[in-house]
Amino acid sequence: MPILTKHDKEVKEKELVLRIMPMPSDSNINGHIFGGWIMSQIDIAGSILAAKIAAGKVATIAVNSIQFKDPILVGDLISLYASIVRTGNTSITVSIDVYSQKRPFQNDSVKAVEAKLTYVAIDKQGNSRPLTSL
Ligand SMILES: CC(C)(COP(=O)(O)OP(=O)(O)OC[C@H]1O[C@@H](n2cnc3c(N)ncnc32)[C@H](O)[C@@H]1OP(=O)(O)O)[C@@H](O)C(=O)NCCC(=O)NCCS
Repeated sequence: MPILTKHDKEVKEKELVLRIMPMPSDSNINGHIFGGWIMSQIDIAGSILAAKIAAGKVATIAVNSIQFKDPILVGDLISLYASIVRTGNTSITVSIDVYSQKRPFQNDSVKAVEAKLTYVAIDKQGNSRPLTSL
């Protein structure tokens, strides 16, 4: 039976939606990965799950919360896990956890960021539409 790491246990109920490795051009002047670049990946990751639930286009309506817990460095392998927090009439709130696997790659990962974003299902005109309109 495989031995589950702390990370394996934490992400058990979540979906891995995106994996990416930041490059030197994604760094800030401190040598850490720029928060704006990370937020962009979080928005993409959350929208992947939200669009699946909405079965169509979504727009980000709110970044409800974001906490940077551990710096991400060039060459870390980052994995973005998403789960649904709630669905409303037109909106979907998604929790996104960003885990960073440090170089040289070790078995376990560190939770670097946690965020919650809300998306709204939209129609072709960009207006909100009920999730039940499917
Ligand atoms: C998305 C958009 C069409 C929604 O317009 P709208 O339907 O008039 O918006 P509403 O105020 O009625 O809110 C829609 C839903 O979002 C929720 N919502 C609104 N503000 C929110 C906030 N700050 N936090 C969480 N949820 C919020 C509402 O509760 C509602 O949810 P529900 O239908 O499940 O009850 C419009 O706001 C828009 O075009 N925004 C710009 C989107 C954008 O450009 N995003 C960046 C690029 S993707």
